[in-house]
Amino acid sequence: MKLKALVVAFAAAASFNAAWAQAPIVIKFSHVVATDTPKGQAAERFKELAEKMTKGRVKVEVYPNSQLYKDKEEMEALQLGAVQMLAPSLAKFGPLGVKEFEVFDLPYIFPTKASLYSVTEGPIGKGLLQKLEPKGITGLAYWDNGFKDMSANKPLHAPGDFRGLKMRIQSSKVLDAQMRALGANPQVLAFSEVYQALQTGVVDGTENPPSNMYTQKMHEVQKHLTISNHGYLGYAVIVNKKFWDGLPADVRAALEKAMAEATTYEKAIAQRDNDMALAAIKKAGKTTVYELNAKEQAEWRKAMLPVHKQMESRIGADLIKAIYKETAK
Ligand code: LMR
Repeated sequence: MKLKALVVAFAAAASFNAAWAQAPIVIKFSHVVATDTPKGQAAERFKELAEKMTKGRVKVEVYPNSQLYKDKEEMEALQLGAVQMLAPSLAKFGPLGVKEFEVFDLPYIFPTKASLYSVTEGPIGKGLLQKLEPKGITGLAYWDNGFKDMSANKPLHAPGDFRGLKMRIQSSKVLDAQMRALGANPQVLAFSEVYQALQTGVVDGTENPPSNMYTQKMHEVQKHLTISNHGYLGYAVIVNKKFWDGLPADVRAALEKAMAEATTYEKAIAQRDNDMALAAIKKAGKTTVYELNAKEQAEWRKAMLPVHKQMESRIGADLIKAIYKETAK
């Protein structure tokens, strides 16, 4: 009788182990943009690569368009371990207490995409990701979107055109200062709330790269879009540190490889996506698209550049100087 009980117990344990061994490690990847955006497509590509490279030991569940969590909530969910991976805008790390990330929001700080990549792919970018560790977050990569344009329901040709406008921004004190430098009233809203806020007049205008504007249909509720390229919007791909450190070493190595390939893919499509979105906005014909001339560009720069000095105490003068040096090369 005893032997029989032992055999039954052993068989149960073996089947449990087998079941456990087959149960995939689940990565919930939450983000706030549509799938047909650079970040949305890269999340899908990471899913495909991660599941293939770990031979199914990892299952990635992508939750796009604020389906699972919207802006502020998603960072809290990651720290609590309710989700394992995010790719928030670099403008959204201030509330976490890592104010240095707002250096990416400084208007006109990156003359070109190449100069931006020299920052994100070099020691400055690495150093910033390391600042996330004490918050229980591991930074894996930087993903790209593009340079931002401004939209409203009135023409935006000169800085004075912003006076008194309620402009939606991401949760960044640098963007707050940027809009105030233009005489506008900045209002932080979650990305998922922007379309309705523009439609109902809660805010008058906003800023974003064309891919975000088009995929959220903002062009349908904004009569004017000015191609200003006055600032940059990009992302940090981050994971819950406890989850990441707890992975089997071979699984983590495979995921790092999948992330590297997904990052290369994402950067290759970002500019194309934005170009296609701008063309689609023009084709839709609901928004007057205006390109600033050189004189107007200079006026916008003059109005917004004081934000750099103003934000030194928040971001760190040394970090700003290091980026000036790196991007001047
Ligand atoms: C925004 O909130 O405007 C953007 O950060 C959304 C995104 O993730 O691109």
